[in-house]
Amino acid sequence: MAGGPIVLTSGAKEHPGKMTLFVFLTCLVASSGGLIFGYDIGISGGVTSMDSFLSRFFPSVYRQQMADSSTNQYCKFDSQLLTLFTSSLYVAALISSFLASTVTRVFGRKWSMFAGGITFLLGSAINGAAVNVLMLILGRVLLGIGIGFANQARAHSSVPLYLSEMAPAKLRGMLNIGFQLMITIGIFAANLINYGTASIEGGWGWRVSLGLAAVPAVIITVGSLVLPDTPNSLIERGYDDEAKAMLRKIRGTEDIQAEYGDLVAASAEAKSIDHPWSNILQRRYRPQLCMAILIPSFQQLTGINVIMFYAPVLFKTLGFGSEASLASAVISGIVNVFATFVSIATVDKLGRRKLFLQGGTQMLVSQLLVGTLIALKFGTTGVATGMSTNYASIIVLFICFYVAAFAWSWGPLGWLVPSEIFPLEIRSAGQSITVSVNMLFTFIIAQVFLTALCHLKFGLFYFFAGWVVIMTAFVALFLPETKNVPIEEIVLVWKKHWFWGKFISDDDIHVGNLEVAKHTIEAA
Ligand code: BGC
Repeated sequence: MAGGPIVLTSGAKEHPGKMTLFVFLTCLVASSGGLIFGYDIGISGGVTSMDSFLSRFFPSVYRQQMADSSTNQYCKFDSQLLTLFTSSLYVAALISSFLASTVTRVFGRKWSMFAGGITFLLGSAINGAAVNVLMLILGRVLLGIGIGFANQARAHSSVPLYLSEMAPAKLRGMLNIGFQLMITIGIFAANLINYGTASIEGGWGWRVSLGLAAVPAVIITVGSLVLPDTPNSLIERGYDDEAKAMLRKIRGTEDIQAEYGDLVAASAEAKSIDHPWSNILQRRYRPQLCMAILIPSFQQLTGINVIMFYAPVLFKTLGFGSEASLASAVISGIVNVFATFVSIATVDKLGRRKLFLQGGTQMLVSQLLVGTLIALKFGTTGVATGMSTNYASIIVLFICFYVAAFAWSWGPLGWLVPSEIFPLEIRSAGQSITVSVNMLFTFIIAQVFLTALCHLKFGLFYFFAGWVVIMTAFVALFLPETKNVPIEEIVLVWKKHWFWGKFISDDDIHVGNLEVAKHTIEAA
């Protein structure tokens, strides 16, 4: 169908099926991919703030941060090598997710997850046993490759797609955010573990922190062996009878013929798409292409990973003691988990736009306040004048407001919205772009934050606040509401939009089910 019109096939029909225990358990195991991803986001910053770790691997940074508070505090941790320890993982994940898509196509999703689990295990072992910086970075690179494979970082296969394929349609949005929830739980677990291991006498606690990444890795490795293949994946590889049997099992009903028919049709259509990459460059897909690039860039430009990666380092920069820094990271970590539930509960009722707009406003106010509070204490010289506990608690409080707002807006929606706007003919290319852009920006933020803090000082918070203004205005003007719109009919939403409508001609739309389509246009 390359080059043909955008075809609207099924309407807003629902196939029979309930949430079976089997589906619930398989989705739970599959989501552990998110746990691994989150654990790695959360673990490195805490370890980096531990004296025993710094003095061993980064002695010059250690000396710099031990200097007294009459020196410029903003530049305490400024080291490209130190940030490479965190950021290297994301370049590796970016590259390996391309490779992983081939493995997935040939061997199926479960083997892609299995390969991810094993690589991950190796990475955590090398990290836990590291004796030099090279081993640390090699470990991180392996973890990145593992993440690329295990999650295929939410691209068109593996965990998120696995979840969507297993879940009954009406629970898809919720399950998609379930994966984000696992990420936040992974980050929180890492925060807690760092807090615990930092106090281990003998200064080898960081080995435990890094080595414990093996736990989620074992879960996903073992899990991948017991996970069944999805009906979609079985059909794609020609196992039709097995696919039917699986569908009966996961839907808990014999009445699967209609859904099976749809899956077979979708698979045949997917196979007939020759050029998803050139398809997405056509004028009529301009709205989706822009969103595939802008949404993940904006998600990272909120500055969230400054907190997720470097909260303990940031708190230490502000003059907190080691323990207080790690404890503060635990607090923002738990806020991140709980605020994600707000999104799960409201996303299909309030819609995406309201959450984006509210979250953006709350993030903006919090960032301005945090920047200003830091400016008042450290000014432009970065010399600390002593911070009372109350003052410090207020900063942590506003950081928590900021994290909560992210957790119910750009966190989950930065993934959910791109996943629901691509028609089949460009879905794989669109998802790959989203994932790659996200990993690229995650890498950039991880790599430059500590240097940027050194140069922009408190202004760094205003810098991210500026981006939040831009992205919130962008959502207000350019993002149509996608709540409750079947993916197959999403093109009509773009067509109706005051700006994007110009890119889609009437000939581009071939309506397979006119009644449903008309209904959607009227309701949208
Ligand atoms: C983002 C991560 C971020 C996490 C925080 C995810 O949606 O992609 O970069 O660290 O949310 O919870």
